[in-house]
Parts: sequence; structure tokens; C-alpha cells
Amino acid sequence: MYIIVEKRNGIATLKLHRPDAMNALNQQLVEELDYHVEAIGKDQEIRAVILTGEKNFAAGADIKAMVDLDVRGAETFAFSHTFKKIYNLEIPTIAAIEGYALGGGLELAVTCDLRIASSNAKLGFPETGLGIMPGAGGTILAPMLLGVSKAMEMILLGSIVGADEAYRIGLINKMVEPGQAYSEAVNWANKFVDGAPVALQMAKKTIRRGLESGSYEKGLEIEKRNWTQLFQTRDQKEGMIAFLEKRKPEYKGK
Ligand code: CAA
Repeated sequence: MYIIVEKRNGIATLKLHRPDAMNALNQQLVEELDYHVEAIGKDQEIRAVILTGEKNFAAGADIKAMVDLDVRGAETFAFSHTFKKIYNLEIPTIAAIEGYALGGGLELAVTCDLRIASSNAKLGFPETGLGIMPGAGGTILAPMLLGVSKAMEMILLGSIVGADEAYRIGLINKMVEPGQAYSEAVNWANKFVDGAPVALQMAKKTIRRGLESGSYEKGLEIEKRNWTQLFQTRDQKEGMIAFLEKRKPEYKGK
């Protein structure tokens, strides 16, 4: 079993557990991940997902499993379909990173909405040094996060950066003391559990669809449509009435 699942207080944690290989992503690990992501997507009780790893986040796709692949084999091995399921989860996703997040490991982290890393984390896309390139969303998501210039630099040079540099360039949202990435991710996830679920999901979806539309005009249309829809939720009334009554809102996800 390469994925350890924990569901507690509305938070699902998926922990990569292949420590002998620094959580290198092989077919079995990714199939397990796929299965659990599908299940979480259907679980109405879950309000946030944390992806993390035992000791390290993940040192990339399993090089031993890839070395002899041909084109057909690479098509079968590719795990972008599973990462797409994570990208498309409606609830917020957080990567909690200790140690290495390299190659496909970093692609997994950038597929999440937010990244918290410990100060000794090391992040990078070393694939070109192996004669390949990122193949699980990195060429799309890194430029979106970092801008084309920095993404080109990271992918073409294959450079590995520390957490402080990753924070400086916007690759991670927050840097914490070693060993604290997961607990801080839980702190953030708890905010999502207490928050207004429909508004959170709509905000996530609207940012994504706006970016994908590639235009300010289209983005504004999407934003207006989604923003107005929130006024048919009970949570919108509850949030505003609670503010006016100077009390904590109690959201129902409706
Ligand atoms: N695949 C398979 N095994 C891996 C691995 C990987 N990506 N990364 C680490 N391991 C294994 C090592 O083979 C080693 O196993 P053995 O003890 O059985 O030899 C074990 O993990 C520990 O690794 P090291 O001895 O190398 O540890 P280190 O501390 O000296 O170095 C490291 C750590 C810098 C992360 C180094 O292991 C490394 O460079 N790993 C490869 C990183 C990489 O290139 N990732 C990109 C993969 S390609 C990809 O992800 C493609 C994609 O687009 C999806």
C-alpha cells in the first residue's frame, strides 16, 4: 500500500508512502492515488484535501520503471489523467512538502491549489537532465504560477531550489520550520472546513476558468455569472446576517 488515507473532521489526507524510494511515483502508487481521489471527489463530508509524503514529498516519477519504456509504454505509464482528477477536485487542495518535491513530485504539488513547504524542502524539475521533460502538467501549471520566464528557467536548467527561493518566486505559499508543513496545512484546511463550501468551490472554479479563458473580458463574464449565483445560496444570507449580528457564521454548504 503506497497511499495512506486519513479522513478526519472534514479533511482528507493522502500520504505518499514509499519511503525507500523517496516516494517515487510508480504505476501502483498512482493507481492507488487515482482510486482515493475519485472517492474523495464523491464524498460530501470532505471539505479539504492535503497531499503529503512520508519523509519526502516525492522525488519524481520512478526512473527505474521508466528507463526501458518505449512511446507506447510511456503513454501507459503517464499519470497526467490522475493529476487532472486532482486538479478538477471542487474542494481546496493543499500540498504539504517536507524534503524533496522533484519532477513529477513537484508536478503533483503544483496541481494542488496551495503549497506549504518546510524550510529544508528542495523543489525542482530535473527531467531534462534525464533526457525527458515534465509530463504531468508541469509545462502548463509552472508558467501559470511563476510566469513564463521563471518556468522556462526552472524547466530548461533543471535547477533545484530551496524553500526560501521557492517562496520568493511564488512556487510555494508559505515556508515553515522543518516538520511543520503538515500541521500548518491542517490549520489552513480547518479554515476551509469552517468556511462557506459553495463560495470556496466557486472561487476556485472561477479563478481556474478565468485563467483558462485567457482573456479579461471572458474572465469577467465567468466571474459575474458565478458571483451572482452565490446569491441563491443560504450561506450567502448566513454569512452576511452573521456579520451584521456580530456573530460567527454557521455555514451549511447550501
Ligand atoms: N525514481 C526511482 N527511484 C528514486 C527516485 C526516482 N525518481 N528518486 C530517488 N530514488 C531512490 C534511489 O534510487 C535510492 O534507491 P536505492 O537506495 O534503492 O538506490 C533511494 O531513492 C534514495 O535515493 P538516493 O540514494 O539518490 O538519495 P540522495 O539523498 O543521494 O539523493 C535525490 C536524493 C537528489 C532526490 C536523488 O535521489 C535524485 O536525484 N532522484 C531523482 C530525482 C529526479 O530526477 N526526478 C525526476 C524524475 S522524472 C519525472 O518525474 C518525469 C515526469 O515528468 C513525471
